[in-house]
Amino acid sequence: MPENALQAYMVLKLPLVEEALEEFLPRRADSPASRIYEAMRYSVLAGGKRLRPILVIATAEALKSRAASVIKAACAVELVHTCSLILDDLPSMDNASMRRSQATSHLVFGEATAILAADALLMEGFRLVAENCADVGLPTDAVTRAVKALADYVGPEGMIGGQEVDLEIVGKPADFETLEYICSHKTGALFTACVRLGGLLSRAREFEMEALENYAKNLGLAFQVRDDILDAVGSPEKLGKDVGQDSERTTFVTQFGLESAKNAVRELCDVAESSLGALPRRSEPLLALAKYVSSVEV
Ligand code: IPE
Ligand code: IPE
Ligand code: MG
Ligand code: MG
Ligand code: MG
Repeated sequence: MPENALQAYMVLKLPLVEEALEEFLPRRADSPASRIYEAMRYSVLAGGKRLRPILVIATAEALKSRAASVIKAACAVELVHTCSLILDDLPSMDNASMRRSQATSHLVFGEATAILAADALLMEGFRLVAENCADVGLPTDAVTRAVKALADYVGPEGMIGGQEVDLEIVGKPADFETLEYICSHKTGALFTACVRLGGLLSRAREFEMEALENYAKNLGLAFQVRDDILDAVGSPEKLGKDVGQDSERTTFVTQFGLESAKNAVRELCDVAESSLGALPRRSEPLLALAKYVSSVEV
């Protein structure tokens, strides 16, 4: 694939994702709870890079499945991710004012509705995964594994665990293991959930799943370190969100410096890339995604 290979792939696949998100998040103007639908749509349809749905789709395609056969799971991870963003931005968490180039949900809808919208997005995510499993006729044990995968990677041993430990280190020093735990859980876990869902829905064999999980684990960890770099040196105009959020926090950047953090991102992406070598076929989109994360452009 050419240099902007990821972009080329996105151009092909994103219309499918955007259309499906719009379909799965109706307005429901006639519902007594129409405001919650409005809040859900506000945060999801504001855009975002959609890297997680793309990861689900690229995983499926690497396993010779079609994008359409995993589209509900692809949207599910985007809804769960958006849920995490709404909560992450709350005054009691990062107290952010901008997300996806617009005011954060709690500033527009109030904290209570923002929290409910996040909860609702999480629920819709599980619904979509269950539906996707049924649509492709997965056997019961694989359905259980898919739903459990999402619960495990999002729950207290996954994303939520990472967010909790992240809150606990504010204003305190943190060692390498703690920083690695935070990044791999608060962000890496959902990346792993993406390949696991894409893999289960595409009936991946065990060695394929292992390769994909190794890839996602390293890619997700790299992505959070990259995000911490961007928080230190990026601009709100380009990122569409507040920067300098981590100034009171210990991150790989504040602890080990910008250059070491950039090297860590590159090294992790190299490991992610080489993990793909175990797959029977070369997946250009998955390779392109690793290349994209690896190049920390500001
Ligand atoms: C931001 O994720 C939060 C992190 C886990 C680092 P993204 O950078 O993927 O945010 P969107 O989806 O593009 O808005
Ligand atoms: C958030 O990490 C990770 C999750 C939302 C789970 P950050 O707090 O660094 O994400 P941004 O920088 O606000 O997007
Ligand atoms: Mg945070
Ligand atoms: Mg934040
Ligand atoms: Mg950040």
